[in-house]
Amino acid sequence: MASRIAFKPLGSLCFAPPRTNRSAAAAAATFGSPRASMASTKLETAKNPFSPREVHVQVTHSMPPQKIEIFKSLDDWAENNILVHLKPVEKCWQPQDFLPDPSSDGFHEEVKELRERAKEIPDDYFVCLVGDMVTEEALPTYQTMLNTLDGVRDETGASLTSWAIWTRAWTAEENRHGDLLNKYLYLTGRVDMRQIEKTIQYLIGSGMDPRTENSPYLGFIYTSFQERATFISHGNTARLAKEHGDLKLAQICGIIASDEKRHETAYTKIVEKLFEIDPDGTVLALADMMKKKISMPAHLMYDGHDDNLFEHFSTVAQRLGVYTAKDYADILEFLVVRWKVADLTGLSGEGKRAQDYVCTLAPRIRRLEERAQGRAKQKGTIPFSWIYGREVQL
Ligand SMILES: [Fe+2]
Ligand SMILES: [Fe+2]
Repeated sequence: MASRIAFKPLGSLCFAPPRTNRSAAAAAATFGSPRASMASTKLETAKNPFSPREVHVQVTHSMPPQKIEIFKSLDDWAENNILVHLKPVEKCWQPQDFLPDPSSDGFHEEVKELRERAKEIPDDYFVCLVGDMVTEEALPTYQTMLNTLDGVRDETGASLTSWAIWTRAWTAEENRHGDLLNKYLYLTGRVDMRQIEKTIQYLIGSGMDPRTENSPYLGFIYTSFQERATFISHGNTARLAKEHGDLKLAQICGIIASDEKRHETAYTKIVEKLFEIDPDGTVLALADMMKKKISMPAHLMYDGHDDNLFEHFSTVAQRLGVYTAKDYADILEFLVVRWKVADLTGLSGEGKRAQDYVCTLAPRIRRLEERAQGRAKQKGTIPFSWIYGREVQL
């Protein structure tokens, strides 16, 4: 049964990250039109060393316990249908394949060339790439999140269930993403690694509650959404790197995007199976997740300086087209079509209402976003610690 720790506020139709202990105004900003405050207040880190933190109501174990059996009975199915989307380690790319080889005589020359190419890339692009890298580097948080899910968690740390094997191997594949971007960014000499490393430490310390309530229904809907979001975002940084003439960086972002696509395929297949077994429960979970809004995994990011760092990073990413409010609506629409939600039949009254809600949500989000864009004012510039305090247009 759900153990509700406190009153749960009703969500409104917007797609802001959940409220944190940062300013209420910042928390109320939508993802598509983040508040562009020039003020950056320093948090009281001495009293609150791991801030910012989630401040929304945290709900646990909302899935009826009998449904755990569904996931136990799907173990063989997962072995035959999900584990096949993993790549054997020997066939996987590794970060070193895309980086200068430190044992080669040409190492210094290769680094010099990498730095020459990086000189042509503007600061706002680096802000996006650093934000993406920081997001990837908080991987311990995402593995933890998967291991909160009832019926699929890795009970021992080396469990032999298909679900646990997937989670560990998925984590191992994902670990290459932050590693590659981190080493690349270090070699460019364009970014303040110490500030970035602090951001990563703060972010992992903050953790995150994506409001999946220990339910694999909610959890796998969340990961389906997020894998597609990262596929889009890394795909866009690849495209922009190419436009800036850095084909090697384009290749780096592109190869990461291709992993994300493979992971998206696996997670969306799990949810497809849940729609087949339990259409009512799954459509209710999808509507629930969308009402709560899909929070971005790094929404609690903080560098010790900027109280609204995530909003500022998101605004730059939106302006450059790396990840936008339109992408959010597009992902939702893609998933609704992928899972054939409109075609579901035999639903309960509540299920039908959830079906209507999710099937009409994407156009409503787009309309709200267009209106917000129309009202958007000139946003000014903001300094980012990640690039030595240089100012970037929001
Ligand atoms: Fe990733
Ligand atoms: Fe991913």
